[in-house]
Amino acid sequence: MPAFNIPAMTTAIREHTGMEPELALVLGSGLGALADELDDPVVIPTSDLPSYPQSTVEGHAGKLIFGMLEGRSVLFIQGRVHLYEGHHPRSLGVPVRLAHALGARHLILTNAAGGLNPDWKPGTLMLITDQINMAMTSPLTGPVQDGEVRFPDMSSPYDPEWTAQAERLAVNRNLQVRCGVYVWTAGPSYETPAEITFFRRIGADAVGMSTVPEAIQAAALGMKVLGISTITNLAAGLHATSLNHEEVLEVGREVRERLAAWIRALVAAPLPAV
Ligand code: HPA
Repeated sequence: MPAFNIPAMTTAIREHTGMEPELALVLGSGLGALADELDDPVVIPTSDLPSYPQSTVEGHAGKLIFGMLEGRSVLFIQGRVHLYEGHHPRSLGVPVRLAHALGARHLILTNAAGGLNPDWKPGTLMLITDQINMAMTSPLTGPVQDGEVRFPDMSSPYDPEWTAQAERLAVNRNLQVRCGVYVWTAGPSYETPAEITFFRRIGADAVGMSTVPEAIQAAALGMKVLGISTITNLAAGLHATSLNHEEVLEVGREVRERLAAWIRALVAAPLPAV
């Protein structure tokens, strides 16, 4: 079981900044440039934080970026921890635990995902309304931590009020968004066409290798969560060519402006009560 020390990480952060983020946002693949939106940023490499699980994947440089956005103190997390990197399931919740320890009670999870609906073009933005855990593991594996619930309720992992508000804000800005269910796989291989057929039948709309453990961790801590997927490609078997990570990063970069404008509007709007 990995030993991570949230108080030691918090102390290390406090040597760089006293900012207490109201809201944390986890940046998905190819979305790192969103961090440029922050005013007065303070950037802390996760390698400076004792016991933070180090990320190894291209497009996921490990950094915490504190700053102001639309007058609100926010933390952008560019140091997501994935199961396929070899981390213990418990490590997947560390970024969320840390954000919570720093004061954040609202969490926006973003990701790049494969689309299971053949009508959704790459670049489609999807609000996550629910999730399916096909990696069959949990960041809560192991002893209960302070402030956590042993058996968290998962009947609405993505806050319905916040999600409805996000949808309204998108409509007001003529931004087309979809809503759907996200399924988490362990990766790192992309799915087979047979797996995609299965995921469609069980009710998923998007597939990816992140987000679900973070939403579980946030539920255990009583945080409000909003989830946004960028559909970067049609999933295996729905599209003639094979999949590659470059394509995922490229589409992530293309949606950047639309997503940044939407996130600004979300941060400027009142946050749901915790
Ligand atoms: N499958 C899994 N993860 C992904 C995909 C996909 O098709 N696209 C982006 N992340």
